Amino acid sequence: MSEMMWGGRFQKAEERSALDFNASVSYDCRMYKEDIAGSLAHASMLADRGIISKEDLEKITGGLLKIKKEIEEGRFAFSVELEDVHMNVEKRLTDDIGDAGARLHTARSRNDQCAADLHMYMRRHIAKLAEKLIAAEEALIGVSEKYKDVILPGYTHMQRAQPVLFAHHMMAYCAMLQRDFERLVGCYEMADASPLGACALAGTTYPTMPKETAEKLHFSKCYGNSLDAVSDRDYLLQFLSFASICMMHLSRLSEELILWSTGEFGFIELDDGYSTGSSIMPQKKNPDICELVRGKTGRVYGHLVALLTVMKGLPLAYDKDMQEDKEGVFDTIDTLRFALDIYAGMLSTMTVNGARTRAVLENDFSNATDMADYLAKKGLPFRRAHAVVGNAVAYCIENRKVLLALTMEEFKKMSPLFETDIYEVLQIENCVKNRDSYGGTGPEQVKRQQREAKKIVSRQKKLAAEWKEANAFIE
Ligand code: ARG
Repeated sequence: MSEMMWGGRFQKAEERSALDFNASVSYDCRMYKEDIAGSLAHASMLADRGIISKEDLEKITGGLLKIKKEIEEGRFAFSVELEDVHMNVEKRLTDDIGDAGARLHTARSRNDQCAADLHMYMRRHIAKLAEKLIAAEEALIGVSEKYKDVILPGYTHMQRAQPVLFAHHMMAYCAMLQRDFERLVGCYEMADASPLGACALAGTTYPTMPKETAEKLHFSKCYGNSLDAVSDRDYLLQFLSFASICMMHLSRLSEELILWSTGEFGFIELDDGYSTGSSIMPQKKNPDICELVRGKTGRVYGHLVALLTVMKGLPLAYDKDMQEDKEGVFDTIDTLRFALDIYAGMLSTMTVNGARTRAVLENDFSNATDMADYLAKKGLPFRRAHAVVGNAVAYCIENRKVLLALTMEEFKKMSPLFETDIYEVLQIENCVKNRDSYGGTGPEQVKRQQREAKKIVSRQKKLAAEWKEANAFIE
């Protein structure tokens, strides 16, 4: 007869290849803390309800804590034969304490058990990621304050458009990450629901108390439909969507940092600690880290699409396809944690070359809109002002000069509305300073953004601390 937990029904052992293919322990062992916390709560509820005895509960509790210690000390040998973390722990508990261990799985199925573990795992790791996300936001605010006076060309279509404060540019990324945080809050709330009590799919004939088990595990709610409880992977899809969007943001920033550190741009230099060299070309300093973040964005998108595809044809309730939910999610957590962590360090150590960005701006036409606005403010309809300046730019290109190098005579020829104050208006600093519209690149507006972002960060820190505390019992 088979040694498996379900051995009774079977005449012979599973084929080795089938067994290896079926097993998930190599990755779901990451949930051992959750598995043990979940079993402790379940057993405690069983005892509260008189389904198992107090003596059994004591044995189970002692046995589970001993197993946890062994795992943490690296003395627990997970076995592929036992398929997953849940059966490894349960089998070992039963070997250790006998019948009490064999009673643990009363009024429970691996379907609600593995779902509960994953819910808890997500909640705990979302709390950890929240801290990393906040650190990256703070790094963006920090670098924006450090280089508060640097002006660089703002681009549209990758063509120089209008000057912007470097700080404004960084705060745009901070705004993206702060929206990511809001999505992360949604992920946490979705993960914060207990499926325990659903059992295999239909609930149980035992007088269980799913709400009580949920409370013991610090879940703020439990599923109201047992079929949904064991079949739902929305909270993972939501997390993968959040992660995909967040990686997309980091990838766009990566792309800019890569461009800005080229010889052609020369706007920034990444710290040596976050750069790599070439094995053949001694002069090289490569932005590998940025490129990897950009590249790894692809695999995170892949995990989202993979799980959406796994789920799309699944009838209720649990299907083994759903075992495929974990690896991609775990890899996403690792990838995002690394990326955010590295970005916090890389942003705070990079050098911005304000002299270079200024030199670029002094030799281009990024102030052309300001020239058109000048005429329009003096009464010329904007469209006509646009045409005057368009001609002026063409004239300058032909005569190899910039707008600021035009003589008053030349200006007057283009439009009698020009006065000597045009030279002030076309100064790069003034192009920035005068864009004081709400959300604009003017220094006061950027300072407001920094102030507001810091307020948001402090609210986020409070929430992250609450999450950390709520999940501490699992550690
Ligand atoms: N290892 C499984 C998973 O991760 C556990 C649940 C299996 N349940 C079952 N009835 N086969 O999905």
